[in-house]
Amino acid sequence: MRLAPEPSAHRLRLIVLFLVLLAGVTTSPVLSTGCPDRCVCDDQLVVQCAGQHLTTFPVNLPLATRQLIISNNRIVELPPLALNYLSDLVYLDCSNNSLTEISESTFGNLRKLAYLDLSFNTLTRIEDRTFGPLASMVMLRMTDNPGLSHIHPDAFAENAALQVLDVSRNNLTTLNITSLIALPALRSVDLSGNPWSCDCDNEDLCLWVHLEDEGQTVCGSPADLQGSRLGEVGIELRALCHQTLGSWDYLFFVLIGFAIFAAGTVSAWVMGVIMVLYERYIKKKDQQVDPDEEGEIYRYNTHMNTYLSFRSLLIRK
Ligand SMILES: *[C@@H]1O[C@H](CO)[C@@H](O)[C@H](O)[C@H]1NC(C)=O
Ligand SMILES: *[C@@H]1O[C@H](CO)[C@@H](O)[C@H](O)[C@H]1NC(C)=O
Ligand SMILES: *[C@@H]1O[C@H](CO)[C@@H](O)[C@H](O)[C@H]1NC(C)=O
Repeated sequence: MRLAPEPSAHRLRLIVLFLVLLAGVTTSPVLSTGCPDRCVCDDQLVVQCAGQHLTTFPVNLPLATRQLIISNNRIVELPPLALNYLSDLVYLDCSNNSLTEISESTFGNLRKLAYLDLSFNTLTRIEDRTFGPLASMVMLRMTDNPGLSHIHPDAFAENAALQVLDVSRNNLTTLNITSLIALPALRSVDLSGNPWSCDCDNEDLCLWVHLEDEGQTVCGSPADLQGSRLGEVGIELRALCHQTLGSWDYLFFVLIGFAIFAAGTVSAWVMGVIMVLYERYIKKKDQQVDPDEEGEIYRYNTHMNTYLSFRSLLIRK
């Protein structure tokens, strides 16, 4: 007799998950086929809820919603569960609300989302996994969040489809562009209206901002660079930030110094030797001249003496 195979722990977990989902489907108001209160739903799967004084995310959203516009309300939170049922969502406009935080799981299932607008909210920071699941996101607008001062270096690392990024008019002082410049499709980035700090930590960013940038992408600090355009400061920073010398530079200078010192010593020594030799040569020449002169004087003296003695002889006579 064969025993039916015992359900493995994995299979059990799947069954439990299925039951939980089933319970969710049957009780969740999110999945009704109707249209949320104060919203307009059309047969193009567009749900329009803009400017309806909503303070919470709309319920009763059609499961197949492709465009959801909840701008100009006072919604304080995007509930991950309700949002992630909308797996066909392509367009999501959450601008001009009161969102303060976006969690790692908020966009966990929105793999088709191409357009996301988070402008005019009160976000303060973006962590590294926040936009991770949004593999199809082409355009992200996240402007006018006056307290937004931190975007994690890897926040956009997985958004390979991203073409347009607008983070203008936030409170950003730094932005690590390492993962941003690696995005293959990126063609437009607006960084204007942020108090960028123009120091060596931000050198890459400043160099990256093109000189043609006509916008208000200017330094907020340090004081002497306030208002200068990032693109112009970048080149100055490159020169300024690489002035410090490495150990090889010091070794180079020591060797050069030693070479100059050695060359000086050797040339002084050679000059000394030449001088000594020359002096010796002169002296030798003098010594060679002297015996002749002495001989001549001697001969002269001898002649003189001979003459004198000859004359005295004559005089005596
Ligand atoms: C934001 O929404 C409010 C209504 O909730 C509206 O009065 C205001 O003009 C909107 N602001 C922007 C910048 O769209
Ligand atoms: C912007 O950031 C600075 C610190 O970098 C902070 O002092 C200031 O309060 C922030 N502004 C807003 C509106 O949050
Ligand atoms: C930028 O982030 C990368 C990791 O993504 C890190 O390796 C690098 O050191 C950072 N650069 C700066 C200037 O902080």
